[in-house]
Amino acid sequence: MEKELKPEIIKPDGAVYTIYKYAELDSTNEFLRHHCSTLADYSVIWANEQTHGRGRFTRVWNSVPGQDLTFSILLPLTSLEEKLRQNITQIAALSVTQLLEVYGLKPSVKWPNDVLVHGKKISGILCEIVKSKNNVYGILGIGLNVNSMEEFLAFIGIPATSLRCELRHKVIRLNLFKKLLETIINCFSVLCQSGFTQNRMELKKRLAFVNEQIIFTDVKQESYSGRIIDLNDDGTLLFECEKRGIISLNSGEITFNNLYLKRDYQ
Ligand code: BTN
Repeated sequence: MEKELKPEIIKPDGAVYTIYKYAELDSTNEFLRHHCSTLADYSVIWANEQTHGRGRFTRVWNSVPGQDLTFSILLPLTSLEEKLRQNITQIAALSVTQLLEVYGLKPSVKWPNDVLVHGKKISGILCEIVKSKNNVYGILGIGLNVNSMEEFLAFIGIPATSLRCELRHKVIRLNLFKKLLETIINCFSVLCQSGFTQNRMELKKRLAFVNEQIIFTDVKQESYSGRIIDLNDDGTLLFECEKRGIISLNSGEITFNNLYLKRDYQ
């Protein structure tokens, strides 16, 4: 249930986006899914607290109320080539890494949708496509650990970190948020205007676990061991599979002996 029906509206000068900040929502993706047809493109739903934050594969997303960032942005996909829609998650991951680099961190992307710092998860992305009769919307949801502390992160169940843990000081969320939104919208307009090539080059530089021995579990729960060779032109992963040779992977998750992250990072 939405606790606060009237959101605070934040529209910085010259910005194409408008932020609607709610005190509490169940899930910003869910909210946007229900309201996408009545909201303008680049509307951003920000929940200070999410009560039922969702991740991929029916996972939950937990964050500390008032400390982290949980939001979803509405992207207009109607005129975006269909094959490029699968790249939205990747441009979001790229944008988060570029933002973190501004803060002096060295993030990497655990393909396709997680951002790591020092091998620990700092951000997760959930992109959903909603189609109406005349329009296609991208609901791009991002959770970013900004100011949560080790005590909270220890309970997430996987190795996780926040900007505050890495930088050893608090970060002003709104400043960071505006930079992130500008970066996402910029990467998205590059995607719309010239395809995935430029974003791919940038993402490739930041891809985690290239040439390392991994296990890849696909959406049907089939697992393949092998190594990541490259990021293909279309954003799929080029993978040398021990049993099946060179294959392309388009959805699923990287694991290490069934661990979400490598044991030596824990
Ligand atoms: C994942 O790690 O599997 C993806 C996590 C995505 C979490 C964000 S938080 C904002 C938005 N609202 C949600 O319910 N989920 C996404």
